[in-house]
Amino acid sequence: SCQTQPKEDYSWIKKGLDAASAQLQLTAEEISSTNMLPRSIRTGYDMNFLCRQLERDSLTFKDSLRAQPTADQLGKRRLCSVYDWTSGFYPGSLWYAYELTGNDTLKTWAIQYTNLLNPVRYYTGTHDLGFMVNCSYGNAERLAPNDTIAAVMKETADNLCGRFNDSIAAIRSWDFGTWNFPVIIDNMMNLELLFAATRLSGDSTFYKVAVSHVDRTMKEQYRPDGSCYHVVDYSMKDGSVRNRHTAQGYAHESAWSRGQAWGIYGLTLCYRETGDRKYLDQALKAVRFMFNHKNTPEDLVFYWDMDAPNIPNDYRDASAAACIASALYEISTVDVPEPQTYKAYADRIMESLASPTYRAELGTNGNFLLMHCVGSIPHNGEIDVPLNYADYYFLEALKRKRDIEQKGSKGC
Ligand code: GLY
Repeated sequence: SCQTQPKEDYSWIKKGLDAASAQLQLTAEEISSTNMLPRSIRTGYDMNFLCRQLERDSLTFKDSLRAQPTADQLGKRRLCSVYDWTSGFYPGSLWYAYELTGNDTLKTWAIQYTNLLNPVRYYTGTHDLGFMVNCSYGNAERLAPNDTIAAVMKETADNLCGRFNDSIAAIRSWDFGTWNFPVIIDNMMNLELLFAATRLSGDSTFYKVAVSHVDRTMKEQYRPDGSCYHVVDYSMKDGSVRNRHTAQGYAHESAWSRGQAWGIYGLTLCYRETGDRKYLDQALKAVRFMFNHKNTPEDLVFYWDMDAPNIPNDYRDASAAACIASALYEISTVDVPEPQTYKAYADRIMESLASPTYRAELGTNGNFLLMHCVGSIPHNGEIDVPLNYADYYFLEALKRKRDIEQKGSKGC
């Protein structure tokens, strides 16, 4: 017989989803003729330095910082090309909204915006291929699989593996800057595509590259306190570490919050895919770092850097919080002591994000779901704006929460 549990009030999920579906659809309609994807809203400088458009136009990073919006662009939705590192998040959000609501219009849009990314299968100029293709095609493959989707994922995974260096035992992140062989913690997120490619193809090469990358990252990128560096630069001569830096954080020795989020999520997915406990243990250590930190705010929506100079009057990053919430829901379902602690942290983050402080009203905020994210303060780009990846991980976390609750009630 089953224990009667007090029923949680999930009305905030339902209410949030109706508005989210409307927001995503309005955007889909408004930009459908542009062949572009929604990324943010324009408030000042654009952080374009990861965008292929720039490479194609032979613009440099410095040029991109000068690419200020004109007065009529300010406050308007910022679109990006399919080669932007964030291009997969909007199609992915449509997939999650479809999955959560069963609304077929959302599915039609999800297919349309996912197909837009088809040329990315031939692209080799970034490590962000995992973000781009796994969030779009990866969700399509989960919810409406077909052979073309699988082919795109395998080809893209092949191209991602082309960036792997045997003597460094890791995948190269950036092709720009003065680094020798930079690997950023964000790259952990791209490994999910490699694990998927092994499942789809039966070829274990992708899996082995992913495992090698996470092993080297765990060894070199993490500090004894459980936090991680943003950038580790390796020597292409002998594979040694040249330096440990930040690009988007406050300081080389600080803990950039989204970097901590990418690490926690990435380690958790590596545990899921391999069953190797050491990844989960490292993820839990990183979680403890974040939640026991003196600068963790009451609402659990982290400051953009855990060591940001103006706390408590500094910017929050809802994207870091949303990504961590999603990872925490997953952690709460695996074999850990006191799993309810992780679920409670995630619930608290989600309730904060779903509150009017962070959750935008329909028709505002460029119809992005969440407000108050930070792209890169050192580059003066995308500060206190919506970001498509915050919305993506918010919806993914909602979906994971729904699954957990449904499973719980079925268990009865
Ligand atoms: N992957 C780039 C960022 O997190 O801003």
